[in-house]
Amino acid sequence: MERKKMVVGNWKMNPLTHKEAEKLFDAVAKSLLWVKKTEVVICPPFLYVEKLKKLSRKIFLGAQDVFPGDVGAFTGEVSSGMLYELGTRYVILGHSERRSFGESNSDINKKIKGALVVGLRPILCVGESARDENHGYFSLVKTQIEECLAGISKNSISKVIIAYEPIWAISSTPGRKDATAQDSLEMAIFIRKVLSDKFGKDSGSLRILYGGSVNEKDALEFLKNGGVDGLLVGKASLDAKKFVEIIKICEQSSK
Ligand code: 13P
Repeated sequence: MERKKMVVGNWKMNPLTHKEAEKLFDAVAKSLLWVKKTEVVICPPFLYVEKLKKLSRKIFLGAQDVFPGDVGAFTGEVSSGMLYELGTRYVILGHSERRSFGESNSDINKKIKGALVVGLRPILCVGESARDENHGYFSLVKTQIEECLAGISKNSISKVIIAYEPIWAISSTPGRKDATAQDSLEMAIFIRKVLSDKFGKDSGSLRILYGGSVNEKDALEFLKNGGVDGLLVGKASLDAKKFVEIIKICEQSSK
């Protein structure tokens, strides 16, 4: 099944000012005139979205979290409806950095449902913190997928994107190690099997991304041999040159 490739930049809590955000975004936007086959998404801190959306029609904007309500007495929170209204079309959910604050699969499930209702596409992050000899990480990822996607209809499943992010490979993890394309391939095959058991052929159009210290040097290897439809990029997305290079590699690797 033909699935459009995608590259997503997760800026996390960067940069510090509007000015820097616009400079970075603009530098990426200006370099993307040739992009045809790759969907490019940037997820900045949401307060930058209003200005950034005016700078490019080619780049989709995404958020990094959402609250599973509509409106109401939820101090400090932002809802899916508000994010959609603001101009975002994607939302990263279940990122390991948020799970580390205590977010559970059941919390993420509510957020995914709320996002889908208003037309935001959830990018669900899954992944283990360490690998064990008994391959227990497969069942951990299976549980994450099953619990986070519980009650999602077969009709909606193609709107979901799954990002496999082994926490031990993410740049902010102390003592991190490189994951290989083979690690990504094995997990991507496993995730497809879990999805197909749960959602049948409707899951065939769902895209799976790899994320975990992807840079311009290893992007091709993950795209060619990692069994994925794109990449979720953290640190390297804060460097316009590196991020554009990754998009270029993705574009060239698409059929
Ligand atoms: P790095 O690319 O900085 O390792 O971040 C990966 C990630 O967490 C993207 O969501």
